[in-house]
Amino acid sequence: MTTEPPDPGTDVALYVHWPFCARICPYCDFNVVRARGNEARAERLTAAILDDLRAQAARVGPRRLASIFFGGGTPSLMSSCDVGAIVEAARALFPGGAGEVTLEANPTDAEADRFAAFADAGVNRLSMGVQALDDARLAFLGRNHSAEEARRAVGVAARVFPRLSIDLIHALPGQSVADWRAALTQALDLGFEHVSPYQLTIAQGTAFARAVGRGDWSPPDEDLAAALYETTQETLGAAGFDAYEVSNHARGVAARSAHNLHVWRGGDYLGVGPGAHGRLTLAGVRTATVARRGVDAYVAGVAAGSPWEERADLSPQDAAEERVLLGLRTVEGVPLCVLDALPATSRPVAEMVEEGFLTVADGRLIATPAGRPLLDAVTARLLTA
Ligand SMILES: C[S@@+](CC[C@H](N)C(=O)[O-])C[C@H]1O[C@@H](n2cnc3c(N)ncnc32)[C@H](O)[C@@H]1O
Ligand code: SF4
Repeated sequence: MTTEPPDPGTDVALYVHWPFCARICPYCDFNVVRARGNEARAERLTAAILDDLRAQAARVGPRRLASIFFGGGTPSLMSSCDVGAIVEAARALFPGGAGEVTLEANPTDAEADRFAAFADAGVNRLSMGVQALDDARLAFLGRNHSAEEARRAVGVAARVFPRLSIDLIHALPGQSVADWRAALTQALDLGFEHVSPYQLTIAQGTAFARAVGRGDWSPPDEDLAAALYETTQETLGAAGFDAYEVSNHARGVAARSAHNLHVWRGGDYLGVGPGAHGRLTLAGVRTATVARRGVDAYVAGVAAGSPWEERADLSPQDAAEERVLLGLRTVEGVPLCVLDALPATSRPVAEMVEEGFLTVADGRLIATPAGRPLLDAVTARLLTA
């Protein structure tokens, strides 16, 4: 294993999507499937993921492995042997690198019992969906764990894994700034190096979107959402976490997610598993792939040598727009040379630097603390220019 940081130009990261969940949460619009009754499908899926990985590796050629990320769905429901087989295959296909192997987990007792086996399988960073530490809020979110169970799972994870991140959700109905500050402060006592506080998104097609549509409850208005965001920055900043991305805070540079940084810097990554996205640069052309979303369709697609629902070569302009969208979310920003492919941005860049939403430092364009909460508007102004 090497200690050199991944090189987004030559290294390739691996994203593995495991879609099965014990229960489907009413806010979630990820590509998910109920686990119960799908055990045989899950077995077929692991075999297809391994076949897909081998086929994609043959196409990519020799590269160093930047990182592995098992996301979902709920990859903590996977068999640890399957996780180990995928980690081992990826390391053999792309020798060198891959210091960071992250797995997303739900904080139930049953899953915590298996954390040690995941560590033995090569996982060295756990990302746990705690979401809230209040039973009423967890019930509202439709979670299958209590606050106490989540605390226990975090305790086990902290002992087993060298690196731990937790996800929290805010902007819940009726949540005041004081409530959210208290929830964050309580969470900080759990002890972790990384936290992703997400604002609740009401995604189309979810049970929450239907509830809001019926008028059962409303999400906070814009002003309250902005105040909650400010509270997050203040509370986590005071606790020594730096906001290195809009929704990601780390205690020190070493605690930042190498996998996510690789993606945000425009690095190549393979996506395996149903609905997984990938980005690959071959002979100077960046290609975007989306795997078939259904489990059976993906398994059949891999067997037929056609795992993708979508596969498109990105124009230099599309590739540059994507880098701007991702890069501006981070404290690193985006190299100014990326804007060469987007000549129409020079005027809005100059205007927004003048207005204090963007800044230029060391040859990079960076969103300022004033620009970050308004990033959607900032990037829209840049990219529609
Ligand atoms: C797709 S989930 C996978 C992790 C795991 N299954 C879990 O739920 O804990 C990754 C994270 O996305 C966040 N998330 C999913 N849907 C969201 C939504 N509608 N609004 C805000 N955050 C959301 C949650 O914080 C969750 O931990
Ligand atoms: S939030 Fe997590 S557990 Fe809930 S449905 Fe989505 S992926 Fe599954």
